Amino acid sequence: MVYLVKHIITAALPYAYSIPHLGNFVGSILPADVYFKYLNLKGEDAIFICGSDQHGTPIELKAIQAKKSPEELSEEMHRTINELFAGFECSFTHYGKTHSEKNKEEVYEIFNALKEGGYIKEVERTQAYCNFDKRFLIDRLIEGTCPYCGYKSAKGDQCDNCGKVLDAKDLISPMCMMCGRSDISFLAVKALAIALDKLEKEIKSFIMENSKNNWPKTVTNKSLSFISSGLQPRDITRNMSWGFKVPEKGFEDSVFYVWFDALIGYIGITREWDEKRWKDYWISNETKLIQFMGKDNLEFHAVMWPGMLIGSGLGFALPTTLKASEYLTFKSMKFSKSKGTGIDLRDALRILDADYWRFALMYLYPETADTDFSFEMLQEIVNSIMNDKIGNLVQRVFKLCYMHKETISEGMMLEQYRPKIDEIIEQYKDRFEKLELREALRSLIGLAELGNQIVSESKPWELAGSDNESFSRIMNTLKEIVYDIGILIYPFSPNASRKILESFSIDKEPNMGMLLENIRINLKKDPEPIFRKIKDKDIQQELQDKG
Ligand code: MF3
Ligand code: ZN
Repeated sequence: MVYLVKHIITAALPYAYSIPHLGNFVGSILPADVYFKYLNLKGEDAIFICGSDQHGTPIELKAIQAKKSPEELSEEMHRTINELFAGFECSFTHYGKTHSEKNKEEVYEIFNALKEGGYIKEVERTQAYCNFDKRFLIDRLIEGTCPYCGYKSAKGDQCDNCGKVLDAKDLISPMCMMCGRSDISFLAVKALAIALDKLEKEIKSFIMENSKNNWPKTVTNKSLSFISSGLQPRDITRNMSWGFKVPEKGFEDSVFYVWFDALIGYIGITREWDEKRWKDYWISNETKLIQFMGKDNLEFHAVMWPGMLIGSGLGFALPTTLKASEYLTFKSMKFSKSKGTGIDLRDALRILDADYWRFALMYLYPETADTDFSFEMLQEIVNSIMNDKIGNLVQRVFKLCYMHKETISEGMMLEQYRPKIDEIIEQYKDRFEKLELREALRSLIGLAELGNQIVSESKPWELAGSDNESFSRIMNTLKEIVYDIGILIYPFSPNASRKILESFSIDKEPNMGMLLENIRINLKKDPEPIFRKIKDKDIQQELQDKG
């Protein structure tokens, strides 16, 4: 099969200064991975690009505290994060990093192209300066109250509560994050900025046009609101030392702004993956660029990023879909690395295997509204849905097939259920195509519910021996359903998929084509249950630890 469309799936690059939280994971990397696995099921041409965001002030601040260089700290964290994502069964085509030679080349290429196009200009700024630490307080090195929403811990570059991009001098009661003092002056400095004002028309039509491609409504509305009052030049340099040096006279003490090289990182990381093939994806009219992120990252992806790509004139694909999620909250609090709330990925894997988290988090995926997470809810999803609905069905069907393997004649099904099964599979696909991932999972659960309904209505065990034909038909129908679940559960819980398909003698990655193949069941006496329940006492333990 030849597919013309090339898919680039990206997930926002996590900052390499601490272990990501479940909140970060469910906002971008997990749904991106689930969608990528779905594209693989379909046999589409797709790459999944992500990596560590190594620059910026949070990493510098953390490095100062840890008495390490920012490079050392971020490299260590990069390796840890990469291993954890592997533990979560993420199948990146490449998990790279922003502080790499390839990315640096790409940053310079785009910067020079923007400059040639007349989109780079020198601007005068006032920059916060800590008189105690004797250094500039850039971005996240300064905090204060947000002038727009009143949030107390707004950062110097952005408010994490309302998502507005800020200028440190607008913060109310600013404070230095290194020494905690408010002995702050504002000094005049020079910076380079990208002239988003000149790109306003293009950015607007990008949003108007591309938002037709399954952008969540909230994402479209927010994107339009970001540009509604006109665009200003946006700084792309910072006077600090950690980052890529700015190749301009008079800017020897400056580096590129972390967001500038992080966004370009999507391209730089693809180049790091394959210096020959990256262009096939990034420079093509047949590309679908689908980008997953939390809502706090939307502004950069909806305004600055297309501005950079268009302004460069280098022919890069623009984002087809911006899939920004809402927040997963922990007892109504946002998961926050800096505040130490929520559960990080390492803790999470100590509690449960990847399959459970992937499934439960996608069940709660805050696709359209903030969603609260609790251990009770996790237990409910694992026990009542994964075990009682799916695991149980698989186990019962396998047991009956094994016990009566001589009795069941292959082939015939209960034909009346065929259309219903097909309908659910179509719904599953349709929802994936619309990027409604949380709903696609519900379609999969619907298939298990159908299986359970057939079991309880037809009570197959009563027929074995007395009406072997009806018994065979029922069992073949149930086998088909279990087999289909084995394939379709793959994006969500890949290990469960492997376990189920093993009993059908399949040991390769599944694909949609298999749905149509004849199935051969090959059972061991007691196939291992695919899921286990969470006991009340385990939950009590977690509640004590975290609550
Ligand atoms: N590191 C940023 C964050 O965690 C996200 C960067 S996404 C990219 O909020 F676009 F810059 F890559
Ligand atoms: Zn200070």
